[in-house]
Amino acid sequence: MTKQDDFISTVSHELRTPLTSIRGFAQTMLSSWDKIDDNSKKKFLEIIEQQSNRLIHLVENILSVTKIPNEDLVLKKTNINTAIFSTVQILKQKYNTHNIVINSDKTNPEIYADSEKLQQIFINLIENGCKYSEPQTTVTVNTKSDNQYVYITVQDEGVGISEEYADKIFEKFSRIDNPLTSKTQGSGLGLYITKTLTEKMNGEISFKSLEKGTVFELKFPQYNIEDHAKCSVTH
Ligand SMILES: Nc1ncnc2c1ncn2[C@@H]1O[C@H](COP(=O)(O)OP(=O)(O)O)[C@@H](O)[C@H]1O
Ligand SMILES: [Mg+2]
Repeated sequence: MTKQDDFISTVSHELRTPLTSIRGFAQTMLSSWDKIDDNSKKKFLEIIEQQSNRLIHLVENILSVTKIPNEDLVLKKTNINTAIFSTVQILKQKYNTHNIVINSDKTNPEIYADSEKLQQIFINLIENGCKYSEPQTTVTVNTKSDNQYVYITVQDEGVGISEEYADKIFEKFSRIDNPLTSKTQGSGLGLYITKTLTEKMNGEISFKSLEKGTVFELKFPQYNIEDHAKCSVTH
């Protein structure tokens, strides 16, 4: 099978699962309308809505996955702390179940990056930290720098990732079996998108398992004046 066939067959499978469920619940309601009580009807409609949302999210992710390899990023001098603060502000509302803490180096390290895509990276990692950990736990974003690099970590107190999945989690559509993966929605594309974007900005991403939880580590070269001379668009 070529990579393209592989991609199509995975996508078809991912689309078929929610569609089958939507059709199934709609058919049941149509054929047995009078026999189903109102409570069950409401439950069925909730499932249909949930699965439709899952489809929309999936299609959006698939579109961005197909675009990303050819997408041009606009690299500019970008303040890492500003990008983190605005991301965390948005996510604090969405995940008010979790404690999201920023622990940043006040020296405001700057890197050469596309600020919108940088925020997408932080959203993916912080969302994962919240999705794969229990409510009332803490997700911490740390930044520090030396005179060459800026280092950002996103650490959670969640279910953790076994080292054997180290390569797998960054592949398209890979979701790891854990008690929270089946409870949360996801397409398994977030980390693939995150890694691709990070590398397009000359960065690196890796993760480590902790005694309790996971820490994702990002490393970007510090902005330096010679970057001005480089082309501001990377492919
Ligand atoms: N912080 C984390 N803690 C535990 N597992 C994680 C974490 N981040 C990602 N994973 C695992 O890696 C898989 C891939 O992540 P991702 O590409 O973001 O996909 P999604 O979140 O849509 O499932 C997840 O399904 C999950 O099993
Ligand atoms: Mg994710």
